[in-house]
Amino acid sequence: MRVSVGLFSALALFLLIGAALSQRPRLKPRKPTKRPTTTRKPPVHRPPPPMQPEPQEPTDFPPPILGPPSVFPDCPRECFCSPSYPNALNCENRNLRRIPLIPSRTHYLYLQNNFISEVTADPFRNATELRWVNMANNRIQRIDKQVFEKVPGLLYLYMQRNQLKEVPSALPAGLEQLRLGRNLISKIPPGAFSKMEHLTLLDLYHNQLSDSDLGKNTFRDLKNLMQLNLAHNILKKMPAGVPSGLIQLFLDKNRINDIPRDYFNGFTKLAFVRLNYNQLSDKGVPKTVFNISTLLDLQLSHNQLASVPLFNGHLEHLHLNDNSIESINGTQICPYSLHADLSDLSLAPRLRYLRLDGNHLHPPIPLDVIMCFRHLHSIVI
Ligand SMILES: *[C@@H]1O[C@H](CO)[C@@H](O)[C@H](O)[C@H]1NC(C)=O
Ligand SMILES: *[C@@H]1O[C@H](CO)[C@@H](O)[C@H](O)[C@H]1NC(C)=O
Ligand SMILES: *[C@@H]1O[C@H](CO)[C@@H](O)[C@H](O)[C@H]1NC(C)=O
Repeated sequence: MRVSVGLFSALALFLLIGAALSQRPRLKPRKPTKRPTTTRKPPVHRPPPPMQPEPQEPTDFPPPILGPPSVFPDCPRECFCSPSYPNALNCENRNLRRIPLIPSRTHYLYLQNNFISEVTADPFRNATELRWVNMANNRIQRIDKQVFEKVPGLLYLYMQRNQLKEVPSALPAGLEQLRLGRNLISKIPPGAFSKMEHLTLLDLYHNQLSDSDLGKNTFRDLKNLMQLNLAHNILKKMPAGVPSGLIQLFLDKNRINDIPRDYFNGFTKLAFVRLNYNQLSDKGVPKTVFNISTLLDLQLSHNQLASVPLFNGHLEHLHLNDNSIESINGTQICPYSLHADLSDLSLAPRLRYLRLDGNHLHPPIPLDVIMCFRHLHSIVI
């Protein structure tokens, strides 16, 4: 290796051979999933016991935490209304089982980290100005359709970490972001996303969606969708009818074993594709399927690939770790001919980061790889 490193030292190539084992980047740092404890915000004031005893609840729920009287007469006692943010209603981390009556001045509603199991229309009857609702990390199983009729201006709806079994119906047409990750969703009602032309982010990560739950028209009307996350479901096929303006497509942790040859034809902005932890082998991956000129980041780690798929000269990051690759031939995978003008760096393939660890490869890195990918900053073998 000394010769090649000497020759190409200008490339600032760091060979992290093997040694990277101990400092491998964690692909997905796991966040602690613990429900925040109730002691995070000490209750300022404990109210006297209510006149009428609350109905007995056969649960382990701690009692709701009530705040001090607010300067806003319409502020529910279970929530905090900041004088500096009159359009925000903070009811997160309060052990709530029920949604309080939402004041009409509310634009931002924070209800995350409670024990709410049902969303009914009544608390929303005056909340016509709502723009942003966060109900993440509750126990929501059901949402009345009428809720969304009351909030036509809703832009962001965050409902990850609940117990929904299907995508809610009659969502507001103006919605821009919908987060439904970590639920139990195995059903998308027909037309659930129709008319939602403004949706840019749809997150269905970590649910129970299979191929039959995704029709070819499911995503059809999402003309402005930029990010689609279907990771951690039980898909065996690539989802059909994905909007062609998509920028990010995440499909990690499914059971996909086959990519149709023309699957990525027609995408005009696709830059990030993740297919880590699937069942892709050379047989199911047509040799040039990832030759997509807009792609910047391609992740195919933890599959069963035996060879390196061809990719475009614009690609910057390629993850192929933990596959079954036995050899790599720089001449074959070089997006441009090695005989092209090597002195002009701006013409060289843009690949900067390449992970190949967890395969059957051994150093040294072949010279033709180093000669082709002259922008390579790090390669992990
Ligand atoms: C609903 O809002 C209107 C004005 O925006 C107000 O007069 C009325 O009292 C509110 N109703 C409730 C139940 O809060
Ligand atoms: C990859 O796509 C480019 C156009 O972006 C094309 O010129 C090139 O021939 C393709 N390479 C292969 C191996 O198909
Ligand atoms: C790599 O591929 C090229 C072209 O297919 C071939 O000529 C060359 O011998 C291969 N290199 C090795 C080390 O197998």
